[in-house]
Amino acid sequence: MSSPIERSLVLIKPDAVRRGLIGELLARFERKGLVVDALEMRTMDAALAAEHYADHVDKPFYPPLKEFMTGGPLVALVLSGDQVIEVVRAMLGATDGRKAAAGTIRGDFSLSNRENLVHASDSPESAARELALWFPKL
Ligand code: PPS
Repeated sequence: MSSPIERSLVLIKPDAVRRGLIGELLARFERKGLVVDALEMRTMDAALAAEHYADHVDKPFYPPLKEFMTGGPLVALVLSGDQVIEVVRAMLGATDGRKAAAGTIRGDFSLSNRENLVHASDSPESAARELALWFPKL
């Protein structure tokens, strides 16, 4: 039996927007066969950052992460496709761009674990939570 089509919440982060990489990143996702179900340019405020990163608010890296993620516009996407959550995480590569494999998005475009271009849901549970937070009407 085939599994149902999944959805993932993906954020093209402020560094990617500043660097003019929106088109490049969307093209990679579309070439892979993933479908853009929703797309919106947004700027995170402190309250949305705290909700989105609820698991990380007490970590030492949260203040710089919040500063970065609220520091400019980002593009929020809903992507769908077969096993999209796992597929997109593989396309991103390791969190730290210095360690991400060549050929992945971070491996090709990032040298940082903060300015690492894209966020994507890491499990079905986080996808459900993040989709409800960013696109409650979908
Ligand atoms: S953890 O603790 O392993 O769950 O964290 P991790 O998955 O590695 O990272 C979670 C998000 O925090 C960002 N991050 C950082 N931001 C700023 N400074 C530092 N040092 C730092 N380390 C990790 C990382 O990019 C992840 O962001 P998202 O949006 O989830 O990709």
